Order: sequence, then structure tokens, then C-alpha cells
Amino acid sequence: MNSILIKNAEIITMNDQEEILNGDIYIVDDRIVEIGKNLPHTASKIIDATGRTVIPGFIQTHIHLCQTLFRGQADDLELMDWLKKKIWPLEASHDEESIYYSAMLGIGELLQSGTTTVVDMETVHHTDFAFKALSESGIRALAGKVMMDKGDEVPFLLREKTKDSLQESVDLLEKWHNHDSGRIHYAFCPRFVVSCTEELLTNVRDLSAKYHVRVHTHASENASEILLVEKEHGMRNVVYLDSIGLANERLILAHCVWLDEEEKRIIKERGVKVSHCPGSNLKLASGVAEVPSLLDQHAHVSLGADGAPCNNNLDMFNEMRLAAIIQKPVHGPTAMNARTIFRMATIGGAKAVGLESEIGSIEPGKKADLAILNLNDFHVYPSYDIDPISRIVYSATRADVETTIVNGKILMENRSMKTMDKSI
Ligand code: GUN
Ligand code: FE
Repeated sequence: MNSILIKNAEIITMNDQEEILNGDIYIVDDRIVEIGKNLPHTASKIIDATGRTVIPGFIQTHIHLCQTLFRGQADDLELMDWLKKKIWPLEASHDEESIYYSAMLGIGELLQSGTTTVVDMETVHHTDFAFKALSESGIRALAGKVMMDKGDEVPFLLREKTKDSLQESVDLLEKWHNHDSGRIHYAFCPRFVVSCTEELLTNVRDLSAKYHVRVHTHASENASEILLVEKEHGMRNVVYLDSIGLANERLILAHCVWLDEEEKRIIKERGVKVSHCPGSNLKLASGVAEVPSLLDQHAHVSLGADGAPCNNNLDMFNEMRLAAIIQKPVHGPTAMNARTIFRMATIGGAKAVGLESEIGSIEPGKKADLAILNLNDFHVYPSYDIDPISRIVYSATRADVETTIVNGKILMENRSMKTMDKSI
């Protein structure tokens, strides 16, 4: 039996009451067993968290780990040119080893910045090696190979036959879904409507229902992408996905920057999960997603960093901060307040992946997926009035993450110079 006792922490639970408590967390194997003051247990590992803040691990609902090695493509291109000129040729150049290390590097950055679950879209080939990295690293994941069976602009090496794309996806699902005692899940990843035939999408709809797994795709990100879909299908993205029965509670839709009222209604009524990627939407000049209006309509929105070339890192602190501040000039200071953002990054992400009974909050019975932060900067005047959630959303960085735990295992420990703060 493995056990961890985290002592004397400030705990942001994100339970239904969003309580912030002071006390201990007792973890046995992969689960939180008890939370309370001065718990009497002994444990194989005791962490003194005096002055530290414990949060549920972040859940990122849209990432491409296969793009981590393409960081630094600091080009000034919009989406379709960027894909054609940069991303697709680079994805086509991947081999088994580069996919593995691209994933491992990304996962290392995610863990360093407190992310414990990712929804990951890989490229066409070698996804088996990304799963190997996800499995070995200990992070929680829903991942899948990208599917693209049409499009004149898609490089020859990435162009798939419909049948092969489906078969390879099912083979990967059978190998990896529910792997590592359910820590790894499969998700079908048709890239976007532009690169998928109706036959492929219809089959993905049926397979997702058959295996009860998520479908993870991009939609309504950028003007030229939307135009391509309208030209071909005479419909907007979400309307088209709905017409073939893909718009349902298992669908995770990345971006959704430009939605009309009908698309918003479909998203709300069908329980589609929107993954908002503010950093990527700014970098690729896609636009500012209308998240306040989606939330007003009670649509489901969570957060993701997208690929590393969009924002240079996979840091949820960046995404939270951007998600909050980009709305303020137009919608006012409270339209996307810190608590709303923090909810999207934690329990909201858990709902997006259908694991809200397991992760997303710190509660007895849930999986032990959490991060321990040291928010005690030398340059912040000590005050008991600081709201820790506001502090995290607006001023924390990944340097503040001391420990990241997934499934009851310590995957990252980084005791920084800031631990000196108690001795002066
Ligand atoms: N749409 C289709 N593919 C991609 C991708 O790799 N990144 C982003 N941001 N949008 C896409
Ligand atoms: Fe993306």
C-alpha cells in the first residue's frame, strides 16, 4: 500500500460548495481517502504543505502533443496557411522516436505546470508511440490518432484511405482504451470537417456510440475554414456535424470562435463540450471566442492550450489568464471572473471528459490528481485578504508548482528557492 499525507495545506476543493479549507489530505494508492485537520495517519510519504495551496490538477481538453517539437514556429500565418505550410509537412516528417519524445517533452511541461489530464490529438502515424509515452509518464489522458481522409492540400504522406483511418483508430482503441487501470482512454480524432469525408464522420459517430468514447475535433476556428465548410456543405460547421448526428454529449469541439446563434443552440441542446483555446486563437489571429455568451446560455466550456507552436508552451496558467483578460475590454471586469475560469480549468474539464465522478475536485473517494503550489512570493505584501483563486488565475506561474500528483503518484517535485521564505 502506498500512502501520502499532505499536511497543513490550504485546500481549494472545487467540491459543489467550492470550499477552501485548511488541513490535511490523506491519499492511499490512487485515491483521496480523507480530508481534515490534524489527521492521525502515518504514511509512506509525508509532505509538509505549510503555507502551500493544494488545487485539483488542471484538465486540458485540447492539446496536440505531436506538435511540441514544432515550438518556435513563430510564423505570422493564419490557420489554413499555417497548417499547409508548417504543421502538416512537419507532422508528415515524424517517426516513431520523434513522436515519443515530442509527447514526453510536452507531458513534462504539463506536469511542471500542474496539468494532470489531457485530451490529446496526435498525427496520422505512429500514435502507438505517443500512447507509450502517455502510459509511461503516469499522466491521465484521452488520446487518439488524427483522422484525415480528404483535402487537396493535405500532404500525400498524411492522406489516409477512409477504411484504413477507421481500422487504425479501432486497433489503437482496442490496444490502449482503459489501459493502466483506466488512466488512459481512447478518443476518436477526426481533424476537422475540411479534412474528413462524410463516410468517415458517420463511422466515427457509430464507433463513439459503440465504445462509449469521446470524439475530439476542431470547429469554427477561423474564417477561411468556415468558408470551406460552407462552400462544400452549404452549412456552418456545427450545423453540419449535427446533421450527421455527431453533435452530442460525447463531442469535444476545440475553438468555436465564430458561432452563429443556431450553432450555439445546438451546442447547448446537445450537450456538446467546447474547448476554449485563447492563446492559440490569438496567435493564429483566429479571433476572440464568445465565451461569456456561451456561458450565459449554460453551454459547457473548458480550456486547452492547443499545440506548443500556438503559444510556445502548454501552461494552463497562461490559458486561464488569457481566457479572463481577453474578455474584459468588451464585456467588463466580471464577465469572465477568476472563479469561472478556475472552474473551467478543473471540474469543468472533468465534465468535458466525462470523469467528473473521478477527477476535477479534491474530495474523499476521488482520484488523487492534484498540484501543490507555493504562492508565497517575496514581492507580495503579506495579506490574509487575497482570494487564492484570483491570485492563481491572475498571477501564478508554473514556477509556483512544487509538486504534481496523478493517480496518487508524485510525478513532479520542484522545491524552488521560494522555500527559503520561512527562514527569513
Ligand atoms: N484545425 C485543424 N488542425 C488544426 C491544428 O493542428 N491546430 C489548430 N489550432 N487548428 C486546427
Ligand atoms: Fe488544435
